[in-house]
Amino acid sequence: MHERNRLPAANLGACQPARGGLPLKRHPSLRGLSDDHHTALVIAARCKRSDEASAARTWESVVAAAPSQLEPHFEIEERHLLPALRRIGEQALAERILDDHVQLRELLAVTRPTPDSVQEFGRALEAHVRYEEREIFERTQDRLPEDALVALERACDEIPRVCPAGLFGSPEG
Ligand SMILES: [Fe+2]
Ligand SMILES: [Fe+2]
Repeated sequence: MHERNRLPAANLGACQPARGGLPLKRHPSLRGLSDDHHTALVIAARCKRSDEASAARTWESVVAAAPSQLEPHFEIEERHLLPALRRIGEQALAERILDDHVQLRELLAVTRPTPDSVQEFGRALEAHVRYEEREIFERTQDRLPEDALVALERACDEIPRVCPAGLFGSPEG
């Protein structure tokens, strides 16, 4: 399952998902998104550690990874997860996700990064991932409509999300 979304073998060292304390009990249809979240936590950790010496280089990697990793993930959630949440009456949760995506896209538009701006993006990305895992997935995974889960899983299988090789190392890297 989701084999197409797994990083090519040559990239495994580049974006090895960090388990990062995320809950492991996931509805099978949400595992593709959870795998992406582990990659996002690696990116967030790197951003949070950025300093004067590394901020520009780190930001270059983030901007390079965004169109192939972060943006397709946001789009899958917006197309399939948010409507499913609204259908079960969780409009507020759907709006919070959308607000977070707007904020993250605004932060990604920064063209003159500073250590502060890169760290801010890292904190925002980490907080968003943890919110989705702990508040959204944990609270709603057993209530989401079956057809929506099937569509979500299919989208995760069909829409590639890859982190270009060499951009990010291990969580400590
Ligand atoms: Fe999201
Ligand atoms: Fe997400």
